[in-house]
Amino acid sequence: MDAKKLVNNDFADVMFNRHSVRVFDKNVKIDRTELQEMIREAATAPSACNLQSWHFVVIDNPEAKAKLKKAAMKFNYPQIDTASALVFIAGDTQSHEVYRDVWQKVYEAGNITKEKLDQIFNTFLPLYENATPEFLQLDATMDSAIAGMQLLLVARAHGYEANPWSGFDFKTVIADLGLDPLRFVPVMCVAIGKPDASVTPLQTQRYPAEQLTEFI
Ligand SMILES: Cc1cc2nc3c(=O)[nH]c(=O)nc-3n(C[C@H](O)[C@H](O)[C@H](O)COP(=O)(O)O)c2cc1C
Repeated sequence: MDAKKLVNNDFADVMFNRHSVRVFDKNVKIDRTELQEMIREAATAPSACNLQSWHFVVIDNPEAKAKLKKAAMKFNYPQIDTASALVFIAGDTQSHEVYRDVWQKVYEAGNITKEKLDQIFNTFLPLYENATPEFLQLDATMDSAIAGMQLLLVARAHGYEANPWSGFDFKTVIADLGLDPLRFVPVMCVAIGKPDASVTPLQTQRYPAEQLTEFI
């Protein structure tokens, strides 16, 4: 992660001038090294118990786009047809199975004591090992949604625009993308590219935050 490499490191611009762009310049290619870098940056997102219950499927070629289209609602075809790449984010309900490795590394790096390591394993692992499928799906969905939001901002920091979308068939999209439906839950797709200059993106409004806020 090298902040100096970011094309746009102006946080206010990255956040407040983000708008969903749904039609992209088809001539722009984003190389896989950069896509992987953007995903690496997005995956610095927080996650429940640091389980990182996300999985990224990169769709950047016609064959992969055809697979995604099978499950997508028609109004999302423009993003699929024109984006340089789409990153499908699925929640991983089995992330706790490698949980020991993640914290073992933190321990080996000298960042936590053996007692703290054991405490983490004894507190959190039983929670996940005994969890219902609904709990695991919800947890994985929350983690993935946060990574998705972060990817939207990372894309802007790299000089691209993006659109998050989940208008696809939730029952079929996981299998259509070649993932295991017993393990992964669909969360969202992020279309990334340079905007088609001939199309003006929709400027959306927000409800006044006061209307949706209570202090208790
Ligand atoms: C969970 C989620 C699902 C969405 N699904 C779609 C979709 O299927 N198609 C689409 O064009 N936009 C989709 N959007 C984009 C929203 O329409 C958009 O974010 C919203 O209208 C606000 O506009 P803005 O992104 O320009 O701020 C989705 C956004 C979110 C967060």
